[in-house]
Amino acid sequence: MARLVFHLDYFIIICITLALSISCRACGSTTLENTRRPFFIFGDSTVDPGNNNYINTIPENQADYKPYGQNGYFGEPTGRFSDGRVIVDFIAEYAKLPIIVPFLQPSAVFINGVNFASGGAGILPETNQGQVIDFQTQIKNFEEVEKSLTQKLGDASAKKLISEAVYFISIGSNDYMSGYLGNPKMQEYYNPAQYVGLVIGNLTQAIQVLYEKGGRKFGFLSLSPLGCLPALRALNPKASEGGCFEEACALAVAHNDALKAVLANLEHLLRGFKYCNSNFYDWLHERINKPSKYGFKDGVNACCGTGPYGGIFTCGGTKKVQDYQLCDDAGDYVWWDSFHPTEKIHEQFAKALWNGPPSSVGPFNLQDLFLSKEKLTNIADEVDDPDSQHFPYESQDYFRAH
Ligand SMILES: *[C@@H]1O[C@H](CO)[C@@H](O)[C@H](O)[C@H]1NC(C)=O
Repeated sequence: MARLVFHLDYFIIICITLALSISCRACGSTTLENTRRPFFIFGDSTVDPGNNNYINTIPENQADYKPYGQNGYFGEPTGRFSDGRVIVDFIAEYAKLPIIVPFLQPSAVFINGVNFASGGAGILPETNQGQVIDFQTQIKNFEEVEKSLTQKLGDASAKKLISEAVYFISIGSNDYMSGYLGNPKMQEYYNPAQYVGLVIGNLTQAIQVLYEKGGRKFGFLSLSPLGCLPALRALNPKASEGGCFEEACALAVAHNDALKAVLANLEHLLRGFKYCNSNFYDWLHERINKPSKYGFKDGVNACCGTGPYGGIFTCGGTKKVQDYQLCDDAGDYVWWDSFHPTEKIHEQFAKALWNGPPSSVGPFNLQDLFLSKEKLTNIADEVDDPDSQHFPYESQDYFRAH
């Protein structure tokens, strides 16, 4: 009997110990979660994780059908315009965050951040109007999330979360492709320089809105060499010469240069504003021109599509032209479909943004923004600091000119 009692006691102690260790683990993970910085994502198909599955739009703006997602990482097509993951999935992994969910996914929780991006979206509301969640609406949706966090966590904790979060913005390609080159009216109203001015003006306003809401850390995916997308190569009036569509490339360069200048100004003007900009243009151009140097066999043609360069956007057979070809191994290709790179490109560039060289990312990289324990100083902070002798982040080699 005594033995049994002993065993019972022992059993109870084990139960209590187990219960305690389970609850301690729960506490531990909650604490960890609170030290993680949330990740808010705005943009277009480069980063859409499936928001467009929930809106009324055309098949060109959706990717929730095969062969999208064919590498099986998520088990089934999710709406990502890739054979698997996209850049922000890798960044979330490096930041030790779970996959960041689409804002429109029912039951989405926001504590680790949320993804507002929508395939086809532009910075200007006119771009693909009525078919996408435009950038201004994405910002309004962020305000909803802000309210929900405040209700759940209280004012102080929500404010802290919002100020520590990283805001990643990848948008603009559609403004130049369909919004301008595909829209003769716009070309009549505005010359290219004026149009870049509108796009950058609207982007700057949005950054300021997020800053006023408490956002401090920003990451930007700059525009790729748009004229080298298989779809634009195929549209090139000089397509027979096999080159990229120069007019589209020139718009991307002008946009990236203007963005770079705006960010440098904002860093001077806005106290505590820190950013990570990227040089996706040169980085991708290098892989398009020298694929074998980076583990690819083909830098020009789409793995999935039809026509010249696979540039006719038929991947999946859900659009007007249903015929499409699919390559054997997407890992050999820079381009997954007529407009979007493969997962392998997404992963390589996510690495560059996370901790890559100053030729690809600067003045901060994303690792600095997510993990740095010390207070990161920016130029506006330095200017206010009378002891400051130097501007450490005005780095000379943060992007050479192309
Ligand atoms: C934003 O874009 C609209 C066109 O949609 C334009 O009328 C407006 O001037 C732009 N704003 C800025 C600040 O450039």
